[in-house]
Amino acid sequence: MKKVVVFASGSGSNFQAIIDAVNAGEIQAEIAGLISNKSEAGALQRATNNSIPTTVCSPEQFESTADYEKVLLQKVESWKPDLIVLAGYLRKIPDQIIAAYRGSIINIHPSLLPKYGGKGFYGMNVHRAVLENNETESGCTIHIVDEEFDQGPIIAQSKVAVHSDDTPEILAKRVLHEEHKLLPATIKKFLN
Ligand code: GRF
Repeated sequence: MKKVVVFASGSGSNFQAIIDAVNAGEIQAEIAGLISNKSEAGALQRATNNSIPTTVCSPEQFESTADYEKVLLQKVESWKPDLIVLAGYLRKIPDQIIAAYRGSIINIHPSLLPKYGGKGFYGMNVHRAVLENNETESGCTIHIVDEEFDQGPIIAQSKVAVHSDDTPEILAKRVLHEEHKLLPATIKKFLN
């Protein structure tokens, strides 16, 4: 059975979409663990509800960055992932992890990359910028993670229309709905 490790910082609705696809047998894999940098992340509860092991790990808990990176890498290695999924993870993945799992870490981003990616483009900032620029379409992108934020090779994209009366919140919801379909489908393809 292939193993997937998920990183999430937020409510974890994308993580839930993965759990649901695994439980439905659409993704034939085991979610070996969830890592969050935030002890209050909703994703942690979703993991617990599904008996998925969790770890909270953030640099603030350690005396040095080196200690943090070592512990994080050890944790990931202990779960022996075939695929690592960043599902709303708001911290940079340490370079050692990227090097150890190069090509096997994917991230979902709520815009049509390369547009609206990189530093500062996260959460509602992305949707606000899309509306400020009067874009007529937006969407979500899944890409391979490398050392640069939101810049690795794109492997899947899904588009939505932007309406003239959209608020960032309404647009975010429309994009998120697509994310919940694109992420499980892409994981399935990746593992095959
Ligand atoms: C999603 O829009 C994801 O693309 C972005 O953060 C949001 C996370 O939502 N990186 P959730 O925690 O999966 O509900």
